[in-house]
Amino acid sequence: MAFGRALAAAAIVAAALLVLLRTEYDYASLGSFNLTKEKHIPQLGLGTWLSDRDEVAHAVEYALGNGYDHIDAALIYKNEDQTGKGIKDSGVDRSKIWVTSKLWNSDHRKSEAEAAIKKSIADLGVDYLDLYLMHWPVAFVPGEGTRLDTDTSIVDTWRTMEDLVRKNYTRYIGISNFARAEVQAILDVCNICPYAHEFETHPYLQQQDFVDWHRRADVDIKVIAYSPLANTNPTYRDKKGSLVDPIFKDPFWTKLAAAKNATVPQAVLAWGMQRGTVVIPKSAHEKHIDENRGALEVQFSKGEMRDIAKQDKKVRMNDPGKSWGVKLFADLDDPTDLDGEDTEL
Ligand SMILES: NC(=O)c1ccc[n+]([C@@H]2O[C@H](COP(=O)([O-])OP(=O)(O)OC[C@H]3O[C@@H](n4cnc5c(N)ncnc54)[C@H](OP(=O)(O)O)[C@@H]3O)[C@@H](O)[C@H]2O)c1
Repeated sequence: MAFGRALAAAAIVAAALLVLLRTEYDYASLGSFNLTKEKHIPQLGLGTWLSDRDEVAHAVEYALGNGYDHIDAALIYKNEDQTGKGIKDSGVDRSKIWVTSKLWNSDHRKSEAEAAIKKSIADLGVDYLDLYLMHWPVAFVPGEGTRLDTDTSIVDTWRTMEDLVRKNYTRYIGISNFARAEVQAILDVCNICPYAHEFETHPYLQQQDFVDWHRRADVDIKVIAYSPLANTNPTYRDKKGSLVDPIFKDPFWTKLAAAKNATVPQAVLAWGMQRGTVVIPKSAHEKHIDENRGALEVQFSKGEMRDIAKQDKKVRMNDPGKSWGVKLFADLDDPTDLDGEDTEL
């Protein structure tokens, strides 16, 4: 009995030490920016994937002038220079906004990674990033399209990214599109540990266990929900998105939104935030940007949250694994089926 209690106490002390260690690294990762640790990722951000180059500057400027303080960008979106124009034109002080960018698969090697983050920083017109994500747990040979680079592991790339923090290019680093075992592989070795994990999650792919796992004291990683409006992104429409109702027409969601005096996008985004994820809806239109911000006003009861949980359809919209020849999301809902017929992006 006494031995059991001693063992439990030792486990608690070990967990507390782990949290303390992680916290210290958080401070270390602030580098010379001298920003307070309180500057955490805002719960609502503006996505920029597939935003037209001639629309994104205005969308970003408009969002930053109208209550948004978080922009989700990536080098591969090929519009970071225009996103940067929007940041500049907004006139909002750099220290008041959160800017995320992502390391593309062809840039996982040390020499490429530093050049890539420098390009993102220059295009976005900022001196540093708040968060830099490994876009996928997949490396391509630089300059050779999607040929897999089997010499560069995700741990090698994580080490490279830790140096980007030490060099003050970014306040935090994180991951995107990782399976649970891949996250664990980084946690097992990190000196500067992932601040956030950005992955697809929405009412049709809820992955609540996986979301909750990130909140455990020994994991402690924020979750950023991409494609938070489920199959609304038009890229998904002719592919897996067609297997389920467009979420804006889903009878469950239209009824629930009406009952909350909200629109469906507002209700869906509000649920995303209330379940503890950061949501980053993309829009290039003022009306939608305003509407989505209205999600911050919507609250669900516990009973409503339970009803929404029953609506999970476990359908993943975004899975390039087959075209890359890689089994992605192996231990999660709807993993890549390398032998199957399903259409992919
Ligand atoms: N890390 C990754 O691998 C990854 C992958 C995918 C996405 N992301 C990030 O997550 C962001 C969001 O995901 P997403 O772009 O795939 O999908 P999404 O934000 O769920 O949906 C975007 C679509 O919804 C429309 N929309 C937005 N608000 C609306 C509203 N209130 N009413 C009607 N339509 C509305 C947009 O059209 P309009 O522009 O016309 O408003 C756009 O077509 C991306 O932009 C990107 O920054 C990251």
